[in-house]
Amino acid sequence: MLHPVVLSGGSGSRLWPLSRQNQPKQFLSLIGDHSLYQETVLRASKLPTAQPPVTVCSEDHRFMVGEQLQAVGIPNGGILLEPVARSTAPAIALAALHVLTDDPAATLLVMPADHLIEDEAAFRDAVSAATGLAQEGWLVTFGITPDYAETGYGYILCGELLSEQGYRVEQFVEKPDLSTAERYVAEGTYAWNSGMFLFRAQSYLDELARHAPVVFEAARAAYAAAVSDLDFIRVDKQAFASSPSDSIDYAVMEKTDHAAVVPVSCGWSDIGSWSSLWSVAERDGDGNRHEGDVISVDTRGSLVRASERRMIATIGVEDLVIIDTPDATLVARKDRVQDVKTVVEHLKAAG
Ligand code: GDD
Ligand code: MG
Repeated sequence: MLHPVVLSGGSGSRLWPLSRQNQPKQFLSLIGDHSLYQETVLRASKLPTAQPPVTVCSEDHRFMVGEQLQAVGIPNGGILLEPVARSTAPAIALAALHVLTDDPAATLLVMPADHLIEDEAAFRDAVSAATGLAQEGWLVTFGITPDYAETGYGYILCGELLSEQGYRVEQFVEKPDLSTAERYVAEGTYAWNSGMFLFRAQSYLDELARHAPVVFEAARAAYAAAVSDLDFIRVDKQAFASSPSDSIDYAVMEKTDHAAVVPVSCGWSDIGSWSSLWSVAERDGDGNRHEGDVISVDTRGSLVRASERRMIATIGVEDLVIIDTPDATLVARKDRVQDVKTVVEHLKAAG
């Protein structure tokens, strides 16, 4: 059976000051009425044969997840709570162990909670095209045609054709430096890793045990000692904390020789930063996206979001991001918004 797994443990620090530790971006309604998390579970529910989604998140966000699922009427396939964040490799292992208890042939569709997909039918077609490969034991990722040298993504070199729409992964490089990313984009033979994966739960655990045995063992022990608490599954803190922080990309995808890729063109975007939100949002004729009470004169290419408390006026500026909240305001050049992370690090260090 197909079990969607929604990864919802990120902190979304590049969307500060809207995204905060107690309410990270995946739980905010950034575009439209639903949060990115809700969009993800709704998308999952439309896949034929999909079981209720499994969510893996921080224990701090358990009630928000429960409420947001209920608000869109999606049944809960298990909410696994992480006592500490250890990135995606152990998080996915918990989900795999969880679904295997009732379904030894379980297939997982791993879905980050912070993506937008415009063409859901194309996405569903790609999942069904990947299903045969997953059944054969491949760890399948979905490849996106890159349009610029993003250093925050994984890059995939496609190898031999394995099925009608799937290729063997010849090389997987997570977050290359800028000159390498530029070379990959110029060569035109690399795809971006979308960060969504389809595989048998057992195939993933086997590859994790082979390439990152410490992560595997920590997740196994943490799940074995888990306790159920209402709708939630609390994994053992000591065991889980003994895992290094490692993502599926570094721990498994870069190392395994069982990786396959199915290219997909589905209007995918990772809402990672204010500039990516600007680029997917509807904009006016001057390329501006306004939210709330905003007046702009001779302003172009900007994202301006007013809080309920006050209006914002801009004159004669270009390519700015201005985000106001009751207790913090961000003003940044649109091409510098990756550095919002630095502000959050300063704030954390200052306590
Ligand atoms: N449960 C849980 N626990 N979820 C986590 C954790 C964790 O410790 N850390 C991150 N996540 C969630 C995030 O909320 C997000 O939904 C997803 O896992 C991916 O994490 P990111 O931190 O957003 O990863 P990334 O964007 O740097 O890189 C990944 O996605 C890119 C595409 O968006 C990689 O898979 C790249 O290869 C890929 O190109
Ligand atoms: Mg991301």
